[in-house]
Amino acid sequence: MAVTKNKKTSLTSLFLGCYKTKNASRYEGEEKGKAMKIRTSPAIKRLSLSDISDPSSPMSVMDDLSNSFTSQKLRMFTLSELRVITHNFSRSNMLGEGGFGPVYKGFIDDKVKPGLEAQPVAVKALDLHGHQGHREWLAEILFLGQLSNKNLVKLIGFCCEEEQRVLVYEYMPRGSLENQLFRRNSVAMSWGIRVKIALGAAKGLAFLHEAEKPVIYRDFKTSNILLDCNYNAKLSDFGLAKDGPEGEHTHVTTRVMGTQGYAAPEYIMTGHLTTMNDVYSFGVVLLELITGKRSVDNTRARKEKSLVEWARPMLRDQRKLDRIIDPRLECQYKIEAAQAAAALAFKCLSQNPKYRPTMSDVVKILESIQEVETKERDSNNKETKKFVGKRNSRHHHRKGQKRVDIAYSDSLLYKESRAKQNSGV
Ligand SMILES: Nc1ncnc2c1ncn2[C@@H]1O[C@H](COP(=O)(O)OP(=O)(O)OP(=O)(O)O)[C@@H](O)[C@H]1O
Ligand SMILES: [Mg+2]
Repeated sequence: MAVTKNKKTSLTSLFLGCYKTKNASRYEGEEKGKAMKIRTSPAIKRLSLSDISDPSSPMSVMDDLSNSFTSQKLRMFTLSELRVITHNFSRSNMLGEGGFGPVYKGFIDDKVKPGLEAQPVAVKALDLHGHQGHREWLAEILFLGQLSNKNLVKLIGFCCEEEQRVLVYEYMPRGSLENQLFRRNSVAMSWGIRVKIALGAAKGLAFLHEAEKPVIYRDFKTSNILLDCNYNAKLSDFGLAKDGPEGEHTHVTTRVMGTQGYAAPEYIMTGHLTTMNDVYSFGVVLLELITGKRSVDNTRARKEKSLVEWARPMLRDQRKLDRIIDPRLECQYKIEAAQAAAALAFKCLSQNPKYRPTMSDVVKILESIQEVETKERDSNNKETKKFVGKRNSRHHHRKGQKRVDIAYSDSLLYKESRAKQNSGV
Protein backbone atom coordinates (compact mmCIF):
# COMPACT_ATOMS: atom_id res chain seq x y z
CA MET A 1 0.00 0.00 0.00
CA ALA A 2 1.84 3.07 -1.14
CA VAL A 3 1.19 6.32 0.60
CA THR A 4 2.11 8.92 -1.97
CA LYS A 5 4.49 11.41 -0.44
CA ASN A 6 3.81 14.16 -2.98
CA LYS A 7 0.21 14.30 -1.80
CA LYS A 8 1.44 16.05 1.31
CA THR A 9 3.64 18.37 -0.75
CA SER A 10 0.82 19.43 -3.01
CA LEU A 11 -1.41 20.08 -0.04
CA THR A 12 1.28 22.20 1.57
CA SER A 13 1.29 24.39 -1.51
CA LEU A 14 -2.47 24.71 -1.25
CA PHE A 15 -2.08 26.06 2.26
CA LEU A 16 0.16 28.87 1.09
CA GLY A 17 -2.62 30.95 -0.38
CA CYS A 18 -4.80 30.20 2.55
CA TYR A 19 -6.85 32.36 4.71
CA LYS A 20 -5.41 34.07 7.75
CA THR A 21 -7.14 34.59 11.08
CA LYS A 22 -7.58 38.24 10.21
CA ASN A 23 -9.71 37.29 7.23
CA ALA A 24 -11.55 34.69 9.25
CA SER A 25 -12.65 37.25 11.77
CA ARG A 26 -13.58 39.70 9.04
CA TYR A 27 -15.75 37.10 7.45
CA GLU A 28 -17.11 36.07 10.81
CA GLY A 29 -17.83 39.73 11.54
CA GLU A 30 -19.77 40.09 8.34
CA GLU A 31 -21.75 36.97 9.05
CA LYS A 32 -21.98 37.43 12.81
CA GLY A 33 -24.74 35.36 14.33
CA LYS A 34 -25.88 34.33 10.89
CA ALA A 35 -25.66 31.04 9.15
CA MET A 36 -24.63 30.80 5.51
CA LYS A 37 -28.06 31.45 4.03
CA ILE A 38 -28.30 30.03 0.63
CA ARG A 39 -30.46 30.90 -2.33
CA THR A 40 -32.55 28.01 -3.46
CA SER A 41 -33.07 28.54 -7.15
CA PRO A 42 -33.26 25.04 -8.68
CA ALA A 43 -31.70 26.49 -11.82
CA ILE A 44 -28.37 26.75 -10.02
CA LYS A 45 -26.56 23.45 -9.97
CA ARG A 46 -24.49 21.94 -7.22
CA LEU A 47 -21.00 23.41 -7.28
CA SER A 48 -17.94 21.24 -7.85
CA LEU A 49 -14.33 21.85 -6.97
CA SER A 50 -13.71 22.96 -10.57
CA ASP A 51 -16.37 25.68 -10.21
CA ILE A 52 -14.59 27.31 -7.28
CA SER A 53 -12.71 30.41 -8.35
CA ASP A 54 -9.89 29.96 -5.83
CA PRO A 55 -9.99 26.60 -3.99
CA SER A 56 -7.00 27.62 -1.87
CA SER A 57 -8.97 30.48 -0.33
CA PRO A 58 -11.77 29.36 2.00
CA MET A 59 -13.22 32.85 1.82
CA SER A 60 -13.67 32.66 -1.93
CA VAL A 61 -15.04 29.13 -1.53
CA MET A 62 -17.66 30.41 0.90
CA ASP A 63 -18.58 33.27 -1.40
CA ASP A 64 -19.01 30.84 -4.30
CA LEU A 65 -21.00 28.45 -2.14
CA SER A 66 -23.29 31.13 -0.84
CA ASN A 67 -24.44 31.67 -4.43
CA SER A 68 -25.04 28.03 -5.10
CA PHE A 69 -28.15 25.93 -4.77
CA THR A 70 -28.23 24.23 -1.42
CA SER A 71 -30.66 23.74 1.38
CA GLN A 72 -27.93 23.66 3.99
CA LYS A 73 -27.07 26.34 6.49
CA LEU A 74 -23.42 26.09 7.34
CA ARG A 75 -22.03 27.79 10.43
CA MET A 76 -18.55 29.15 10.66
CA PHE A 77 -16.92 28.47 14.04
CA THR A 78 -13.82 30.05 15.53
CA LEU A 79 -11.17 27.86 17.15
CA SER A 80 -11.90 29.40 20.53
CA GLU A 81 -15.59 28.47 20.19
CA LEU A 82 -14.57 24.92 19.32
CA ARG A 83 -12.27 24.80 22.35
CA VAL A 84 -15.24 25.64 24.55
CA ILE A 85 -17.43 23.09 22.77
CA THR A 86 -14.92 20.24 23.16
CA HIS A 87 -13.44 21.13 26.57
CA ASN A 88 -10.26 22.23 24.89
CA PHE A 89 -10.15 19.20 22.61
CA SER A 90 -9.72 17.01 25.65
CA ARG A 91 -8.78 13.35 25.28
CA SER A 92 -11.81 12.36 27.32
CA ASN A 93 -14.01 13.86 24.60
CA MET A 94 -12.28 11.92 21.83
CA LEU A 95 -14.59 9.69 19.79
CA GLY A 96 -12.02 8.24 17.41
CA GLU A 97 -9.34 9.11 14.94
CA GLY A 98 -9.02 8.61 11.20
CA GLY A 99 -6.73 9.80 8.43
CA PHE A 100 -8.02 13.37 8.66
CA GLY A 101 -7.38 13.64 12.38
CA PRO A 102 -9.04 13.19 15.78
CA VAL A 103 -12.80 13.45 16.28
CA TYR A 104 -14.17 14.91 19.54
CA LYS A 105 -17.59 15.01 21.07
CA GLY A 106 -18.91 18.47 21.88
CA PHE A 107 -22.08 20.32 22.66
CA ILE A 108 -23.44 23.45 20.98
CA ASP A 109 -26.31 25.75 21.88
CA ASP A 110 -27.25 29.35 21.31
CA LYS A 111 -24.76 30.50 23.92
CA VAL A 112 -22.07 29.42 21.47
CA LYS A 113 -23.82 31.14 18.59
CA PRO A 114 -27.20 32.80 18.56
CA GLY A 115 -29.83 30.71 16.86
CA LEU A 116 -28.01 27.39 17.27
CA GLU A 117 -30.20 24.50 18.27
CA ALA A 118 -28.86 22.87 21.44
CA GLN A 119 -27.36 19.53 20.42
CA PRO A 120 -24.33 17.27 20.74
CA VAL A 121 -21.86 17.44 17.85
CA ALA A 122 -18.81 15.62 16.53
CA VAL A 123 -15.84 17.90 15.88
CA LYS A 124 -13.25 16.58 13.42
CA ALA A 125 -9.94 18.44 13.52
CA LEU A 126 -7.26 18.18 10.84
CA ASP A 127 -4.05 16.53 11.97
CA LEU A 128 -1.47 18.91 10.52
CA HIS A 129 1.06 16.08 10.22
CA GLY A 130 -1.36 13.71 8.55
CA HIS A 131 -1.92 12.75 4.92
CA GLN A 132 -5.16 14.59 4.40
CA GLY A 133 -5.71 18.31 4.38
CA HIS A 134 -7.33 21.33 2.84
CA ARG A 135 -8.59 19.47 -0.24
CA GLU A 136 -10.44 16.80 1.76
CA TRP A 137 -11.81 19.48 4.10
CA LEU A 138 -13.03 21.43 1.11
CA ALA A 139 -14.55 18.38 -0.57
CA GLU A 140 -16.47 17.66 2.63
CA ILE A 141 -17.85 21.19 2.70
CA LEU A 142 -18.66 21.21 -1.00
CA PHE A 143 -20.50 17.90 -0.98
CA LEU A 144 -22.11 17.82 2.46
CA GLY A 145 -22.79 21.55 2.35
CA GLN A 146 -24.91 21.08 -0.74
CA LEU A 147 -26.35 17.59 -0.42
CA SER A 148 -28.98 16.77 2.12
CA ASN A 149 -30.54 13.38 2.74
CA LYS A 150 -31.54 11.40 5.79
CA ASN A 151 -28.86 8.82 4.98
CA LEU A 152 -26.03 11.35 4.85
CA VAL A 153 -24.54 12.77 8.04
CA LYS A 154 -25.39 16.41 8.53
CA LEU A 155 -22.57 18.93 8.39
CA ILE A 156 -23.34 21.76 10.81
CA GLY A 157 -20.34 23.94 10.18
CA PHE A 158 -16.60 24.31 9.90
CA CYS A 159 -13.63 26.29 11.10
CA CYS A 160 -10.68 27.64 9.19
CA GLU A 161 -8.04 29.61 11.02
CA GLU A 162 -4.48 29.81 9.77
CA GLU A 163 -3.68 26.24 8.80
CA GLN A 164 -6.30 24.72 11.12
CA ARG A 165 -9.21 22.97 9.42
CA VAL A 166 -12.14 21.64 11.44
CA LEU A 167 -15.54 20.16 10.56
CA VAL A 168 -18.56 20.08 12.87
CA TYR A 169 -21.17 17.35 12.31
CA GLU A 170 -24.32 16.14 13.95
CA TYR A 171 -23.35 13.63 16.64
CA MET A 172 -24.18 10.01 15.84
CA PRO A 173 -24.70 8.27 19.21
CA ARG A 174 -23.84 4.75 18.11
CA GLY A 175 -20.64 5.80 16.33
CA SER A 176 -19.42 3.90 13.32
CA LEU A 177 -20.57 0.53 12.00
CA GLU A 178 -16.92 -0.52 12.30
CA ASN A 179 -17.06 -0.05 16.05
CA GLN A 180 -20.43 -1.73 16.40
CA LEU A 181 -19.50 -4.74 14.31
CA PHE A 182 -15.89 -5.36 15.28
CA ARG A 183 -15.21 -3.70 18.62
CA ARG A 184 -14.03 -6.06 21.32
CA ASN A 185 -16.80 -6.94 23.77
CA SER A 186 -19.45 -5.29 21.60
CA VAL A 187 -22.86 -6.95 21.75
CA ALA A 188 -23.53 -8.77 18.49
CA MET A 189 -25.99 -6.90 16.30
CA SER A 190 -29.06 -8.88 15.31
CA TRP A 191 -29.72 -9.87 11.70
CA GLY A 192 -32.62 -7.39 11.51
CA ILE A 193 -30.35 -4.52 12.58
CA ARG A 194 -27.70 -5.55 10.08
CA VAL A 195 -30.25 -5.50 7.26
CA LYS A 196 -31.55 -2.13 8.45
CA ILE A 197 -28.02 -0.69 8.40
CA ALA A 198 -27.28 -2.14 4.95
CA LEU A 199 -30.52 -0.67 3.64
CA GLY A 200 -29.89 2.79 5.11
CA ALA A 201 -26.35 2.90 3.72
CA ALA A 202 -27.60 1.62 0.33
CA LYS A 203 -30.17 4.42 0.24
CA GLY A 204 -27.41 6.93 0.96
CA LEU A 205 -25.36 5.64 -2.00
CA ALA A 206 -28.44 5.44 -4.26
CA PHE A 207 -29.20 9.07 -3.43
CA LEU A 208 -25.68 10.10 -4.43
CA HIS A 209 -25.70 8.06 -7.65
CA GLU A 210 -29.09 9.32 -8.72
CA ALA A 211 -28.57 12.98 -7.94
CA GLU A 212 -29.06 15.38 -10.84
CA LYS A 213 -25.30 15.65 -10.87
CA PRO A 214 -24.26 12.16 -9.68
CA VAL A 215 -21.63 11.70 -7.00
CA ILE A 216 -19.27 8.74 -6.65
CA TYR A 217 -18.54 8.29 -2.96
CA ARG A 218 -15.29 6.33 -3.35
CA ASP A 219 -14.70 5.53 0.33
CA PHE A 220 -17.57 3.26 1.30
CA LYS A 221 -16.52 1.20 4.34
CA THR A 222 -17.74 0.36 7.82
CA SER A 223 -15.93 3.23 9.54
CA ASN A 224 -17.67 5.75 7.27
CA ILE A 225 -21.15 4.48 8.08
CA LEU A 226 -22.39 6.21 11.23
CA LEU A 227 -25.37 5.11 13.29
CA ASP A 228 -27.99 7.01 15.25
CA CYS A 229 -29.77 5.63 18.34
CA ASN A 230 -32.15 3.59 16.18
CA TYR A 231 -29.43 2.22 13.91
CA ASN A 232 -30.35 4.53 11.05
CA ALA A 233 -27.23 4.59 8.89
CA LYS A 234 -25.68 7.77 7.51
CA LEU A 235 -22.67 8.15 5.27
CA SER A 236 -19.90 10.44 6.47
CA ASP A 237 -16.56 11.45 5.01
CA PHE A 238 -16.80 12.97 1.56
CA GLY A 239 -13.10 13.78 1.32
CA LEU A 240 -12.65 11.37 -1.61
CA ALA A 241 -16.04 11.87 -3.25
CA LYS A 242 -16.01 12.78 -6.95
CA ASP A 243 -18.53 14.04 -9.43
CA GLY A 244 -19.62 11.23 -11.71
CA PRO A 245 -18.89 11.21 -15.45
CA GLU A 246 -20.82 13.75 -17.50
CA GLY A 247 -22.10 13.74 -21.06
CA GLU A 248 -20.59 11.05 -23.27
CA HIS A 249 -18.07 9.97 -20.69
CA THR A 250 -18.43 6.54 -19.10
CA HIS A 251 -16.02 7.11 -16.24
CA VAL A 252 -13.78 9.66 -14.59
CA THR A 253 -10.08 8.97 -14.34
CA THR A 254 -8.46 9.54 -10.97
CA ARG A 255 -5.45 8.64 -8.94
CA VAL A 256 -6.38 5.40 -7.20
CA MET A 257 -7.46 6.32 -3.68
CA GLY A 258 -9.52 4.39 -1.21
CA THR A 259 -9.17 1.86 1.52
CA GLN A 260 -7.51 -1.49 1.26
CA GLY A 261 -10.05 -4.26 0.93
CA TYR A 262 -12.93 -2.10 -0.32
CA ALA A 263 -11.87 -0.74 -3.71
CA ALA A 264 -13.15 -2.45 -6.87
CA PRO A 265 -10.52 -4.45 -8.79
CA GLU A 266 -11.06 -2.62 -12.10
CA TYR A 267 -10.62 0.73 -10.35
CA ILE A 268 -7.36 -0.41 -8.79
CA MET A 269 -6.15 -1.64 -12.19
CA THR A 270 -7.17 1.33 -14.32
CA GLY A 271 -8.03 4.32 -12.13
CA HIS A 272 -11.36 4.47 -13.97
CA LEU A 273 -14.04 5.52 -11.53
CA THR A 274 -17.76 4.79 -11.97
CA THR A 275 -20.70 4.38 -9.62
CA MET A 276 -20.13 0.63 -9.99
CA ASN A 277 -16.98 1.00 -7.87
CA ASP A 278 -19.21 2.07 -4.97
CA VAL A 279 -21.46 -0.93 -5.64
CA TYR A 280 -18.44 -3.23 -5.25
CA SER A 281 -17.48 -1.54 -1.95
CA PHE A 282 -21.09 -1.94 -0.84
CA GLY A 283 -20.76 -5.67 -1.57
CA VAL A 284 -17.69 -5.81 0.67
CA VAL A 285 -19.54 -4.12 3.55
CA LEU A 286 -22.55 -6.39 3.06
CA LEU A 287 -20.19 -9.35 3.26
CA GLU A 288 -18.71 -7.95 6.48
CA LEU A 289 -22.24 -7.65 7.90
CA ILE A 290 -23.07 -11.24 6.92
CA THR A 291 -19.85 -12.76 8.20
CA GLY A 292 -18.93 -10.42 11.07
CA LYS A 293 -15.40 -10.41 9.65
CA ARG A 294 -13.23 -7.53 8.47
CA SER A 295 -12.58 -7.17 4.76
CA VAL A 296 -8.85 -7.62 5.28
CA ASP A 297 -7.22 -9.15 8.30
CA ASN A 298 -3.60 -10.16 8.12
CA THR A 299 -3.88 -12.10 11.36
CA ARG A 300 -6.14 -14.63 9.64
CA ALA A 301 -4.85 -17.70 7.81
CA ARG A 302 -3.36 -16.90 4.40
CA LYS A 303 -6.39 -18.07 2.40
CA GLU A 304 -8.75 -16.07 4.60
CA LYS A 305 -6.89 -12.76 4.71
CA SER A 306 -9.01 -11.25 1.98
CA LEU A 307 -12.62 -11.73 3.00
CA VAL A 308 -13.87 -11.39 -0.58
CA GLU A 309 -11.49 -13.99 -2.01
CA TRP A 310 -12.23 -16.41 0.78
CA ALA A 311 -16.00 -15.98 1.07
CA ARG A 312 -17.18 -15.23 -2.46
CA PRO A 313 -17.14 -18.86 -3.67
CA MET A 314 -19.35 -19.86 -0.74
CA LEU A 315 -21.98 -17.18 -1.17
CA ARG A 316 -24.18 -19.13 -3.56
CA ASP A 317 -24.00 -22.54 -1.96
CA GLN A 318 -26.39 -23.04 0.94
CA ARG A 319 -24.29 -25.63 2.76
CA LYS A 320 -21.18 -23.53 2.41
CA LEU A 321 -23.04 -20.33 3.30
CA ASP A 322 -23.56 -21.78 6.76
CA ARG A 323 -19.78 -21.85 7.16
CA ILE A 324 -19.34 -18.15 6.64
CA ILE A 325 -22.34 -16.56 8.37
CA ASP A 326 -21.40 -14.77 11.57
CA PRO A 327 -21.70 -17.34 14.38
CA ARG A 328 -22.52 -14.50 16.76
CA LEU A 329 -25.92 -14.34 15.07
CA GLU A 330 -26.63 -17.68 16.75
CA CYS A 331 -28.90 -18.76 13.87
CA GLN A 332 -31.37 -15.97 14.55
CA TYR A 333 -32.13 -15.16 10.95
CA LYS A 334 -34.44 -16.45 8.32
CA ILE A 335 -32.58 -18.69 5.95
CA GLU A 336 -34.21 -17.25 2.80
CA ALA A 337 -33.22 -13.77 3.92
CA ALA A 338 -29.61 -14.84 4.52
CA GLN A 339 -29.50 -16.54 1.12
CA ALA A 340 -30.89 -13.48 -0.62
CA ALA A 341 -28.40 -11.20 1.15
CA ALA A 342 -25.53 -13.52 0.20
CA ALA A 343 -26.71 -13.61 -3.43
CA LEU A 344 -26.86 -9.82 -3.42
CA ALA A 345 -23.33 -9.54 -2.02
CA PHE A 346 -22.18 -11.99 -4.71
CA LYS A 347 -23.66 -9.80 -7.46
CA CYS A 348 -22.20 -6.59 -6.06
CA LEU A 349 -18.80 -8.28 -5.90
CA SER A 350 -18.83 -9.37 -9.56
CA GLN A 351 -15.40 -8.95 -11.12
CA ASN A 352 -17.10 -7.45 -14.15
CA PRO A 353 -18.82 -4.19 -13.17
CA LYS A 354 -21.47 -4.80 -15.86
CA TYR A 355 -22.93 -7.63 -13.79
CA ARG A 356 -23.25 -5.55 -10.63
CA PRO A 357 -26.70 -4.16 -9.76
CA THR A 358 -27.29 -0.42 -9.47
CA MET A 359 -27.70 0.94 -5.96
CA SER A 360 -31.42 1.46 -6.51
CA ASP A 361 -31.72 -2.25 -7.39
CA VAL A 362 -29.79 -3.01 -4.21
CA VAL A 363 -32.25 -0.89 -2.21
CA LYS A 364 -35.22 -2.81 -3.68
CA ILE A 365 -33.65 -6.19 -2.93
CA LEU A 366 -32.80 -5.19 0.64
CA GLU A 367 -36.32 -3.90 1.15
CA SER A 368 -37.69 -7.28 0.15
CA ILE A 369 -35.20 -8.99 2.46
CA GLN A 370 -36.35 -6.73 5.26
CA GLU A 371 -39.96 -7.61 4.49
CA VAL A 372 -39.17 -11.31 4.93
CA GLU A 373 -37.74 -10.44 8.35
CA THR A 374 -40.71 -8.33 9.35
CA LYS A 375 -43.19 -11.02 8.32
CA GLU A 376 -41.14 -13.49 10.29
CA ARG A 377 -41.22 -11.31 13.38
CA ASP A 378 -44.96 -10.78 13.00
CA SER A 379 -45.78 -14.44 12.74
CA ASN A 380 -43.33 -14.81 15.61
CA ASN A 381 -43.60 -18.53 16.24
CA LYS A 382 -42.33 -19.72 12.92
CA GLU A 383 -39.24 -21.76 13.32
CA THR A 384 -36.03 -20.37 11.93
CA LYS A 385 -33.66 -22.88 10.50
CA LYS A 386 -30.75 -23.41 12.81
CA PHE A 387 -27.23 -22.82 11.78
CA VAL A 388 -25.23 -25.95 12.43
CA GLY A 389 -21.59 -25.29 12.77
CA LYS A 390 -18.82 -24.62 15.12
CA ARG A 391 -18.94 -21.32 16.88
CA ASN A 392 -15.76 -19.49 16.36
CA SER A 393 -15.03 -17.68 19.57
CA ARG A 394 -11.86 -16.02 18.34
CA HIS A 395 -12.46 -12.53 17.07
CA HIS A 396 -9.50 -10.62 15.84
CA HIS A 397 -9.31 -6.98 16.68
CA ARG A 398 -6.97 -4.40 15.36
CA LYS A 399 -6.80 -0.82 14.29
CA GLY A 400 -9.27 0.04 11.52
CA GLN A 401 -8.33 0.21 7.87
CA LYS A 402 -7.44 3.78 7.13
CA ARG A 403 -7.81 5.42 3.77
CA VAL A 404 -4.66 5.68 1.65
CA ASP A 405 -3.59 5.96 -1.96
CA ILE A 406 -3.92 2.52 -3.44
CA ALA A 407 -1.00 1.73 -5.68
CA TYR A 408 -1.93 0.20 -9.02
CA SER A 409 -2.03 -3.52 -8.41
CA ASP A 410 -3.38 -6.58 -10.10
CA SER A 411 -4.32 -8.28 -6.88
CA LEU A 412 -6.89 -7.68 -4.21
CA LEU A 413 -4.43 -8.84 -1.60
CA TYR A 414 -2.17 -5.84 -1.31
CA LYS A 415 1.29 -6.40 -0.01
CA GLU A 416 2.29 -2.82 0.57
CA SER A 417 3.68 -1.54 3.79
CA ARG A 418 0.56 0.38 4.82
CA ALA A 419 -1.39 -2.86 5.01
CA LYS A 420 1.24 -4.29 7.31
CA GLN A 421 1.21 -1.17 9.43
CA ASN A 422 -2.57 -1.37 9.80
CA SER A 423 -2.55 -4.93 10.97
CA GLY A 424 0.44 -4.41 13.18
CA VAL A 425 2.55 -6.97 11.28
N1 LIG B 1 -20.55 12.45 13.44
C1 LIG B 1 -20.01 11.56 14.26
N2 LIG B 1 -20.65 11.15 15.37
C2 LIG B 1 -20.10 10.24 16.20
N3 LIG B 1 -18.89 9.68 16.01
C3 LIG B 1 -18.19 10.05 14.92
C4 LIG B 1 -18.69 11.01 13.99
N4 LIG B 1 -17.78 11.17 13.00
C5 LIG B 1 -16.76 10.35 13.30
N5 LIG B 1 -16.98 9.67 14.45
C6 LIG B 1 -16.10 8.70 15.11
O1 LIG B 1 -14.76 9.02 14.80
C7 LIG B 1 -14.11 7.92 14.17
C8 LIG B 1 -13.09 8.44 13.18
O2 LIG B 1 -13.78 8.90 12.04
P1 LIG B 1 -13.04 9.33 10.71
O3 LIG B 1 -14.05 9.40 9.65
O4 LIG B 1 -12.25 10.56 10.97
O5 LIG B 1 -11.99 8.17 10.45
P2 LIG B 1 -12.09 6.72 9.84
O6 LIG B 1 -13.36 6.61 9.05
O7 LIG B 1 -11.89 5.74 10.94
O8 LIG B 1 -10.88 6.66 8.87
P3 LIG B 1 -10.68 7.37 7.44
O9 LIG B 1 -9.86 8.56 7.67
O10 LIG B 1 -10.03 6.34 6.64
O11 LIG B 1 -12.06 7.74 6.93
C9 LIG B 1 -15.26 7.11 13.56
O12 LIG B 1 -14.90 5.77 13.38
C10 LIG B 1 -16.34 7.29 14.59
O13 LIG B 1 -16.17 6.36 15.63
MG1 LIG C 1 -14.08 8.08 7.96
